[in-house]
Amino acid sequence: SREAIPAVVNVDVEGPQINRHVYGHFAEHLGRCIYGGFYVGEDSDIPNEGGIRLDVVEALRALNIPNLRWPGGCFADEYHWMDGIGPKEDRAVMINTHWGGVEENNHFGTHEFMALCELLGTEPYISGNVGSGTVREMSEWIEYLTRDGDSPMVRLRKQNGREEPWKVKYWGLGNETWGCGGNMSAEQYAMDARKYATYCRNYGDNKLYRIAAGAADFSYDWTETLMKQLGHLGCQRVERPLYQAVSVHYYTIAGNWENKGDAKEFTTDEYYTTMVKAARTDELLTGHSNVMDLYDPTKEIGIVMDEWGTWWNVEPGTNPGFLYQQNTLRDALVASVHFDIFHKHADRLHMANIAQTVNVLQAMILTDPDSGALVLTPTYHVFEMNKGHQDAASLRVDTPAGLPSRKVDEAELDTVSISASRKDGKVLFSLSNLDADEAVDVDLDLRGGTLREVASRILTADALQSHNEPTALEAVAPRAHEVTATEKGLRVHLPAHSFVTVEGSVA
Ligand code: AHR
Repeated sequence: SREAIPAVVNVDVEGPQINRHVYGHFAEHLGRCIYGGFYVGEDSDIPNEGGIRLDVVEALRALNIPNLRWPGGCFADEYHWMDGIGPKEDRAVMINTHWGGVEENNHFGTHEFMALCELLGTEPYISGNVGSGTVREMSEWIEYLTRDGDSPMVRLRKQNGREEPWKVKYWGLGNETWGCGGNMSAEQYAMDARKYATYCRNYGDNKLYRIAAGAADFSYDWTETLMKQLGHLGCQRVERPLYQAVSVHYYTIAGNWENKGDAKEFTTDEYYTTMVKAARTDELLTGHSNVMDLYDPTKEIGIVMDEWGTWWNVEPGTNPGFLYQQNTLRDALVASVHFDIFHKHADRLHMANIAQTVNVLQAMILTDPDSGALVLTPTYHVFEMNKGHQDAASLRVDTPAGLPSRKVDEAELDTVSISASRKDGKVLFSLSNLDADEAVDVDLDLRGGTLREVASRILTADALQSHNEPTALEAVAPRAHEVTATEKGLRVHLPAHSFVTVEGSVA
């Protein structure tokens, strides 16, 4: 059997804080994410408040979700917010051309989204329309949401039943403007980002955090163009920097964009390829961050990875435009590896949003379209088990003897991934064993403090393909796990394909 892997952690040496917003979420008007997922309408038999599903809210509240990005995605750049306010029966109907060509009745609009955020106890992240909108439209949306006192948009908001302005910090300047958000060149979009950002005003004490629409994958030149343009401002009175972050999108697929792979039927080889692709997030964030360092060495501008996660072929028999996919233990391990990488990049990564929260892509929750039954996915459990890392100080994990690894085509995959953090006198370790077949032990060598009241949980199942469904809600669910005290700290046993958390108070 394998030797235990030593992992040294100085529990008293705190690294950069892990921004809670890296545990962010994304809800687009796409398939059954909003309609049927979050929102069922006031007349539904499913318990709801103002049309918002209360079972979904309750499940998500257990994750402490820090922010919710809306209304897209590609949908954001064809969304006209004024269509989604006022009496529902008067709201304009449009066609959702990106996602299935279905009718969008605009019954879920600004007020409904802000009510959802209030129910979830989460911060809104609104993605504005650059592709088919106007500067004025975006500017007026911010006035409508956040301005106090008296003005045309404030009067309109009050007329629609909301006296007080809302607080909105996170604001997206378009989405994928190299593609569905306008097919622009980097130079063209950088000009637009400057122009739109100029008219995204701070009203009262509402201070916006503007996010420029970033690169696809490893397109570092896109990031570089946006960073360069930040420096060339004429007017001295304008707020600097004009945008506070640039985004990046990176999806994990096993195959290619024509055939991304099946969500539940996959081979062990496809599993390893998936994990190699997920692990490349480290290279991705390092690459974009290095480019940003050239223009912003003090790391003032953040990276917002506002779309990430697995993207599989849709479930057979479902609308191809709805991006509905199942979620297995493999997806959970993709998520846990992402979080270890996010924790490592805490100094530059300000936010990340998994795509998408309910019924779309790597979802936390799947709802049955007929019975309405709610299923928590394996990915949901990783978010829940890891929530103690939110706003915690990252702790460095050193593995002096190296990590076990395996060759996957041309790549070398570390099959163990570990991260740790400290907050409020508690330390949380996350450990993933990506090996499909072999168990491994990790010896946590703890320096600078000892751990008391240790509790551990494990997420695993017989097969990597295991998943939850209405008839098997807990096929993949966390269970209590035993760890062993050693002279130097703790021995943690990691069965094949498992995710384990260990938490304890530091003395
Ligand atoms: O998340 C699904 C889609 O993926 C988003 O709408 C778009 O931004 C990306 O291409």
